[in-house]
Amino acid sequence: MTRVFSGIKPTGNVHLGNVLGALVHWVDDQHRADSIYCVVDLHALTVQQDPAELRQTTFRLAQALLAIGLDPSVCTLFVQSHVHEHAELAWLMECTASHGELSRMTQFKDKSTKAGQGFVSGGLFTYPALMAADILLYDTNQVPVGDDQRQHVELTRDVAERFNSRYGPTFVIPEATFPTTGARVMDLQDPTSKMSKSQDHAPGTILLLDEPKTIEKKFKRAVTDTESEVRFDLAAKPGVSNLLSILGAATGRTPEQAAVGYTQYGPLKADTAAAVIERLAPIQARYAELGRDPSELTRTLAAGAAKATEIAAPTLARAQANIGLLPPNSSTSVVVGVL
Ligand code: AMP
Ligand code: TRP
Repeated sequence: MTRVFSGIKPTGNVHLGNVLGALVHWVDDQHRADSIYCVVDLHALTVQQDPAELRQTTFRLAQALLAIGLDPSVCTLFVQSHVHEHAELAWLMECTASHGELSRMTQFKDKSTKAGQGFVSGGLFTYPALMAADILLYDTNQVPVGDDQRQHVELTRDVAERFNSRYGPTFVIPEATFPTTGARVMDLQDPTSKMSKSQDHAPGTILLLDEPKTIEKKFKRAVTDTESEVRFDLAAKPGVSNLLSILGAATGRTPEQAAVGYTQYGPLKADTAAAVIERLAPIQARYAELGRDPSELTRTLAAGAAKATEIAAPTLARAQANIGLLPPNSSTSVVVGVL
């Protein structure tokens, strides 16, 4: 069976772009593939975090993933730092990736340039090696990600192939997959940039836990254009097209289908808000329900980590053995025999 692995960072709040662009696919995939999903808290450490807030955000993100529909009896859901094999394999990956390869990662270049003279952690640079470890530990076939992660999955493939050719068959070579349906959700105030986590509390971002009134208000104020024609045209009408993408994704239709019957922006905004409210309502209810029993979520995550470890531990052991690390319980004859 196809093995799927993906990860999401516990930073900021989950927003509508995460839900419609990625997480609904995670929920679908769990029924067609052996799916493993990870809250990648170690990846969040590339920038300084407030410890209490990181704990909260990690827990709340897992709660949100279950609320959206991940079923721990079908898929594996766990927190990255609970499976120590990730950090251990990451070192082997750092030593297999080259400095040049890591330097060419556009995400590193963008983020380090943005930081300017400010603090840039070594982890920001080696981040893709940790991501490669995440993926390779599980003999992953497919990695559903957004377009911005394409280069990191390519690097994962290159590093896996290099390791296999240096030390013998060790890793399965994964491929990135990009959802063909669903929305690329844009910021409601700036429809040419993606709705994003860094825009928390911004009027252009719909958060998973926004109240209906807030959602209505944000859609009412959404930026459109000075015409009055409703049609899906990303280049000429980014604001209206974004509303149609959202309305379509929230109601299981294409943006073009969603456009049928609308002649004015007002009703389109109102109906999009209503559709989003309806789509999020059961998720919000389930989120609240899960919040009433935090110890149950803690148990679910522990069980997920145990399931993940069963796959990750033998993969790490294989990589360590193949690269020549001395097994802790090897007999002298094995070692001397090899020499
Ligand atoms: P991030 O919020 O950037 O950590 O992304 C988590 C997942 O959500 C990734 O798979 C992204 O591709 C996806 N995602 C983030 N923002 C959007 C957006 N505005 N529209 C669609 N998908 C998104
Ligand atoms: N780097 C990814 C992001 O920023 C998150 C991530 C970490 C990931 N490890 C992963 C995604 C492994 C897919 C597979 O979105």
